[in-house]
Amino acid sequence: MGLLTRSSLGFVLMVLMQSRTVAFTFMLSTSVTHGGITRYAILNATLQACKEQALQQGKEFVEFSSLQPKTLTEESLVAACSSPDLVKGFKRTISKIRNRNAWVDIYRVFNAEYHFDDESFLKGRDLITNGMSIVKASVKQQNYETAREKLGEILHTLQDFYSHSNWIELGNMRPYSNLIKPNSKIENIADSETCRSCVGNDCTNNILENIITEKKLTSGYFAIFSSSKPKGKCSHGGFLDRTKDTDPKGGINKDSTTSEHGNLHNQAAGIAIAASTELLEDIRAAIGDSEFLRLMGFTQKSVLCFVIDTTSSMSDDIAEVKRVTASIIDRKLGSVNQPSEYILVPFNDPDFGPLTRTTDPNTFKSKVNALTASGGGDIPELCLTGLQLALTGSPPQSEIFVFTDANAKDTWLKSTVLALIERTKSSLNFMLTNALSARRRRSGERPHTDQSNFIQLSNPLNKIYHDLAQASGGQAIEVTKETLSQATSIIGNTIAASLVTVLQAVRNPAKAETFSFLVDSSLQDLTIYITGNSLFYNITNPSGASQSSDQTSGDVGIIQTVDNFQTVHPNIADVAGVWLISMNSEEPYTIEAFGKSPIDFLFDFVELSDNYQSYAVLNSRPAADGNLTLIVSMVGGDTVRPTEVALIGASNSNAYNGTLKEVAFGMYLATFDSVPAGGFFVRVTGMNTSRASNGLFQRQSSIQLQTSSIKVTAQAPESLEPGKTLTLPFTVTTTGSGGNFSISVSNDRNLTVIKLPSSLTLEDQGSANGTITLPVPGNTPSGSEITVTIEAAAPGGKDFNYAVLRLAVAAPVTDITPPVCEVVSINANCLGNCSLSSWELLVNMSDSSGVGIQSVTIRQGVGSLNTSSVLDQGVNITMAFYTASCCFPQVELVMVDAEGNVGLCYKSLVNNGAQHHPVLPTFMWLNLGIILYQFMQL
Ligand SMILES: *[C@@H]1O[C@H](CO)[C@@H](O)[C@H](O)[C@H]1NC(C)=O
Ligand SMILES: *[C@@H]1O[C@H](CO)[C@@H](O)[C@H](O)[C@H]1NC(C)=O
Ligand SMILES: *[C@@H]1O[C@H](CO)[C@@H](O)[C@H](O)[C@H]1NC(C)=O
Ligand SMILES: *[C@@H]1O[C@H](CO)[C@@H](O)[C@H](O)[C@H]1NC(C)=O
Ligand SMILES: *[C@@H]1O[C@H](CO)[C@@H](O)[C@H](O)[C@H]1NC(C)=O
Ligand SMILES: *[C@@H]1O[C@H](CO)[C@@H](O)[C@H](O)[C@H]1NC(C)=O
Repeated sequence: MGLLTRSSLGFVLMVLMQSRTVAFTFMLSTSVTHGGITRYAILNATLQACKEQALQQGKEFVEFSSLQPKTLTEESLVAACSSPDLVKGFKRTISKIRNRNAWVDIYRVFNAEYHFDDESFLKGRDLITNGMSIVKASVKQQNYETAREKLGEILHTLQDFYSHSNWIELGNMRPYSNLIKPNSKIENIADSETCRSCVGNDCTNNILENIITEKKLTSGYFAIFSSSKPKGKCSHGGFLDRTKDTDPKGGINKDSTTSEHGNLHNQAAGIAIAASTELLEDIRAAIGDSEFLRLMGFTQKSVLCFVIDTTSSMSDDIAEVKRVTASIIDRKLGSVNQPSEYILVPFNDPDFGPLTRTTDPNTFKSKVNALTASGGGDIPELCLTGLQLALTGSPPQSEIFVFTDANAKDTWLKSTVLALIERTKSSLNFMLTNALSARRRRSGERPHTDQSNFIQLSNPLNKIYHDLAQASGGQAIEVTKETLSQATSIIGNTIAASLVTVLQAVRNPAKAETFSFLVDSSLQDLTIYITGNSLFYNITNPSGASQSSDQTSGDVGIIQTVDNFQTVHPNIADVAGVWLISMNSEEPYTIEAFGKSPIDFLFDFVELSDNYQSYAVLNSRPAADGNLTLIVSMVGGDTVRPTEVALIGASNSNAYNGTLKEVAFGMYLATFDSVPAGGFFVRVTGMNTSRASNGLFQRQSSIQLQTSSIKVTAQAPESLEPGKTLTLPFTVTTTGSGGNFSISVSNDRNLTVIKLPSSLTLEDQGSANGTITLPVPGNTPSGSEITVTIEAAAPGGKDFNYAVLRLAVAAPVTDITPPVCEVVSINANCLGNCSLSSWELLVNMSDSSGVGIQSVTIRQGVGSLNTSSVLDQGVNITMAFYTASCCFPQVELVMVDAEGNVGLCYKSLVNNGAQHHPVLPTFMWLNLGIILYQFMQL
């Protein structure tokens, strides 16, 4: 078998980029993959959470069978549970989790415990349970992105257990729950020989009989470089594993239908789904339904995020922010268009932060109302430091609004902010009230012949803000204190849910040019922003009507002007079709056309393993030479398909077409063998076959992307311990010419990071190593996140690249015992009409940690619950009193302790209170296998 082929990513990565042939592989095949398993488990757990929420809120829930995976999709679930606008956030989260799951097969490929290879059951279990406590702690600190990453990693390990161990061969039809319980034992691990050689290619009976009859647990050994393994042990098998040629020959993995134990692939995949669901259910129990739905991105619509300069000259601006906040919240309160989250970051000098993140509009309003303008002294302020905090602390693809009247002092953070924009895909919009010249004009007035008299000057100190706005697809609006209130209308337009961009373009320097874009019939509220000084253009709608920029109202629509910012609101009719904007401005300008639509796309740059079996999302700019690969997911249902994915030069609109390949349900790889120089956008053109007419659509990324010939590699540890110092090695590689590369490292927590050395000398096509040292303060709570950006800039600063690392902080877990309950009394008289009678339950709950129980919630029951704490012989006891109508004869009380350990207290009047444990009959699993086979097609 051909072993290592040379990776395009250079020798260091060559080894890394080998993934296994694997584990529920990722390319389109007839086997079930990690991605498919993860997606289905998330859909199921989310379904349970929203069903339970509906039950508790007394709402009707439209039941659909979770046993028919074909009908259970992101779109159908969102439609059943909440507003259809929310599907993008949910899809993005599922992608995030499954992408990180795939990452394990690239960045943890040789670590046996990540795959339950080599009988590493205890280490594998610890990885899972430690990861679960990081997920729970991160959610408590509202660090959802870290929680999602960790979740993806541990789901991978958990799923691999069912493919790589002999759990299925032992005849088990249920998940091995001890793998998610830190206080349980993993017993009966085989301490003797486990396999015999396969007979040729037939491995059906290669596990020794006594292993099966004594129910001994084993897993396959796996190595790429060595063929040795302990005597008599089973191998993993498959084409990368060299131990499979050593006696006992063959393997036992069930990664695909063609693996050595491929006949058990469907069972293994089915139980891996159940096990993944069980893990998600534990997390859900620990954090509660509403936080679980938030973790799944299920409740994320739009975010209102303000970054505000609070120095003394800002009192007018702050008053305006208060007014806008009140108007958005009061107008939208209770409506579907209300933002789902609110974020506030004040900055001053030398202060910045803290970041406030809340789902409660009133909390946000009072935080904003408490802002006062004071201090500051000298002019430049720490704007970029505030932006760094906002970018790392808000959900991906947020629209961030920055208010300032001063230039930035901390300009050294520009490349950090650019890196964070590219990683989060968030947009920055600046409301700048420090314009130099009084350049107000009445809207509608425009230059005719002598433009030179009318050149509007922009404050040159604002250049950095213009650059950041352009890179992120936002606007830099230069207004006066007096006109600010006209510009803030942009905020209301941009926080609406399901916004999509159809065209984004920047011309700096300016250029006369005609832009065209396609508006499809699903798009509503088309709006066009044009930013620039001395704007001069004509706009033509699909029915041929034209309007020039000096007509505030005309055949095309209404043009509103506030200083350097114009908004075109088309007349309602004639929106679908091809639009033209003919620009004739001599000053730099930006154009953005957007609207609301359920159809959109998500994308990430990825690196693929050599055997194309797995991929990892890049945390940096992609390589400038060699192929560039994007993973693209479509949003909007299974009738939405891309026909073309292209990279569009940001300064010239040159299109580079990619090769498209479907790799999973609604997921595509687009490969480009050449890319535009400088910034570019991603554009997807596609068809929506559910619509009879005009099924064509076009969508574009609003942020600009770039490639680099530098690469910064660094591996984040599993977690950081408070009070300890992290030493993190990193490598800088260039595919271009050498020289002295400057290195900068920053973080969003104001920690002092030491980097050694401060610059690196690289040869042509060379590489060099450095180290950063980061002390984690002892009082940092578990679940905190530190985002570290390591940047390397080529000599002359023309090219730079970075690695953005989200580091999870976690103190070692000391309490692994879940709370327990004891029924004190039960009082039921449920004869006759159930609605006329009720029952009561009194239980004592305790937790060995001594800290006591943090929360008790009801699940699978509708009733009322009262709890009180008492101290009984030095032990904290929680007494829970539950009462419910006899029509709801069962209840499960969920007890959670301070560490997030979950204990369940189940009581049913119907079956004598036996612990309820849903299990699917065998035939269901087999059916599920078949259904998955058809449905997932991964
Ligand atoms: C879906 O989740 C529920 C609750 O955890 C579980 O009982 C059921 O078996 C799951 N369904 C599948 C097909 O995994
Ligand atoms: C950041 O750290 C510096 C030095 O440790 C300190 O002087 C400053 O007050 C800190 N700023 C904030 C906002 O915490
Ligand atoms: C707009 O169209 C009119 C009429 O065709 C033309 O006179 C004018 O120069 C155009 N303006 C621009 C900016 O292209
Ligand atoms: C780029 O992709 C093409 C096919 O899409 C392939 O032939 C070529 O080898 C790839 N180049 C590199 C450097 O991987
Ligand atoms: C772009 O590529 C797709 C296939 O990946 C092809 O169908 C389409 O025609 C190409 N478009 C252009 C403009 O070359
Ligand atoms: C950088 O470190 C890696 C291991 O971490 C080592 O293999 C490599 O040789 C080092 N490179 C240089 C240029 O020192």
